[in-house]
Amino acid sequence: MTRKLFVTTALPYANGPFHIGHIMEYIQADIWVRFQRMQQDREVHFVGADDAHGAPIMIAAEKAGLTPQQFVANIAAGRQQYLDGFHISFDNWHSTDGQENHELSQTIYRNLKAAGFITTKTIEQFFDPVKNMFLPDRYIKGACPKCSAADQYGDSCEACGAVYAPTELKNPYSTLTGAAPVMKTSEHFFFKLSDPQCVAFLKDWALGDVDGVPRLQPEVANKAREWLGDESEGLGDWDISRDAPYFGIEIPDEPGKYFYVWLDAPVGYLASLKNYFGKTSRDYDAFMADPETEQYHFIGKDITYFHTLFWPAMLKFSGMRVPNNVFVHGFITVSGEKMSKSRGTGISPLRYLDIGMNPEWLRYYIAAKLNSHVEDVDFNPEDFVARVNADLIGKYVNIASRSAGFIAKRFGGKITARLAPENAGFLETLRASADEIAKDYETREYGRALRAIMHQADIINAYVDQHKPWVLAKDPAAEPALHEVCSTLLEAFRVLTIYLKPVLPALAAQVEALMNLPPMNWADIVQPLPDGHVVNAYSHLMQRVEPKMLDALFDAPAAEPAAATTPVASEIEYIAPTITIDDFSKIDLRIAKIVNAELVEGSDRLLRLTLDIGESSTRNVFAGIKSAYKPEDLIGKLTVMVANLAPRKMKFGVSEGMVLAASAKDEKAKPGIYILNPWPGAEPGMRIR
Ligand code: MSP
Ligand code: ZN
Repeated sequence: MTRKLFVTTALPYANGPFHIGHIMEYIQADIWVRFQRMQQDREVHFVGADDAHGAPIMIAAEKAGLTPQQFVANIAAGRQQYLDGFHISFDNWHSTDGQENHELSQTIYRNLKAAGFITTKTIEQFFDPVKNMFLPDRYIKGACPKCSAADQYGDSCEACGAVYAPTELKNPYSTLTGAAPVMKTSEHFFFKLSDPQCVAFLKDWALGDVDGVPRLQPEVANKAREWLGDESEGLGDWDISRDAPYFGIEIPDEPGKYFYVWLDAPVGYLASLKNYFGKTSRDYDAFMADPETEQYHFIGKDITYFHTLFWPAMLKFSGMRVPNNVFVHGFITVSGEKMSKSRGTGISPLRYLDIGMNPEWLRYYIAAKLNSHVEDVDFNPEDFVARVNADLIGKYVNIASRSAGFIAKRFGGKITARLAPENAGFLETLRASADEIAKDYETREYGRALRAIMHQADIINAYVDQHKPWVLAKDPAAEPALHEVCSTLLEAFRVLTIYLKPVLPALAAQVEALMNLPPMNWADIVQPLPDGHVVNAYSHLMQRVEPKMLDALFDAPAAEPAAATTPVASEIEYIAPTITIDDFSKIDLRIAKIVNAELVEGSDRLLRLTLDIGESSTRNVFAGIKSAYKPEDLIGKLTVMVANLAPRKMKFGVSEGMVLAASAKDEKAKPGIYILNPWPGAEPGMRIR
């Protein structure tokens, strides 16, 4: 019987580019999905979407001079390069502002209302009289009611640690306009989570078993018990409405009222699937009505409450199918520290790719550290270099490099499948781990799966050392033995490649090309290469990690592409926040003479410029202008450089400054890069002020 799987990851807020935490979540889910796709009896649908709604996005869009729709479209346009870059294989990417989501959210609401699960209450809330809108707590600041420290947020004081309600702040003000907020009442809509039917259902769903095993991970179930158990205070009703102006979905028949973003966000899972099924002529209603369908959500620990309480209850009491499970992961930290963009300790996923780091190193490293528990995963640079080089290069790739060459050079690429019992038995023991490794992937014990696989690699390398193909190669009489040993090794390598394929899909594709094989699935583990099968000449499969790449990854935080961090107005790019003349004078701009310009081997973007700014020696600067200028056209010209930028180690050498160039807001729509050229009379070394 075919298992039908519907798999999602959390829907990222469409207010910024992906960060390394998002990529980690996608890698975890993608490995699981790729493992499932390799099974014969499985139909898998893996979807994501942008979480487009809510007050913060509405306000960010306004600041950028854009409509919220334009703002989120800019963010969406930047998504694919990350997904492709890290081999994340979503079948569809959609938006919670899509038509399907409007319809599904409204249907769910109507059903909940008809079933008696919606109630209204009048609540009193801070209102910004200048902006004419109710203020979410995060936009209210004031003085701490305890210690009077100024500029504290509405929930707690950073100076003395006091916790309070926003209404207790002294001299509160709106961070949007600076105006003093006034109290105002409004009718809000609530989902009656306190209804005894709801509590009974959730206790059963969140604390119950599936086929005799607890549904939720132990630490997640413990949380659910705190929220739902007999010792708990029980669930309060959930406020699901917000007043206009709001970027969201209108509540049916309630003009000026919108769904709170967390009501329609998870519905976006269904909307993305529906959108995908629409595009591929599948029957969404039939799939969702099928009792065999299994629905799983990968999420981070911070959004457990929404996914284990609100979301199953919403679905249950609106008559929809309920998720089979929610898989919760911990957070990624970097060298033990929580990620923080401002402190620059995060890893920029684009920077990672830009400096030429292999995405599969990261997939492997994260997988090796993941298990089925809600534990944080630390990215440690030294550990990363050591682990990837030791396992992937030292243990795994090494097997192919020590055997494939001989097959190509000495045996015309042909392998022999006529193996002595000793060798055949050796391969059988490798294949015998298939079920255990499959179980580890299925249960998200990736670290354990990879340890088992690397243990096998150790056994294979011991086989190499024992049979010494390089010694056999010197003895003409040992020709058959060499053929058999190398064929055995290539077959062993093929089996390991299948085991690793969910984690290393691109490397597996290279191996398939090397071995002249169609895409391999799990069942191919027991289908050895046939006698006489011809493989191609070995070409190197994967580079080692160079420690200096990690330096490049961690120096000054990378600028994200303009479209991602600084959404842009329709004509020109959004003007950056105002600076003072002192801010400006920190930048030392100089006239520079381009004394040499040349191509950079291995880069399709960069030129290497040698710049003279009148110092005793010249500067080496890499510039991403290869698409626009021929080196010979630049030599001898004057341009402008930033002369006091911290030197930056790049893959190709150290860059000692930066040349300035103009480009359009949307480089795809209007390509072109234009470097600056001073008016006649300017001389190298002159400062620009
Ligand atoms: N928009 C909501 C989710 C709605 S789901 C219907 C949201 N967005 S988010 O962009 O803040 O987070 C998206 C996912 O990234 C969440 O699962 C979150 O836990 C995860 N992560 C955010 N930071 C993370 C790390 N540092 N490490 C790993 N995952 C992290 O929440
Ligand atoms: Zn205080």
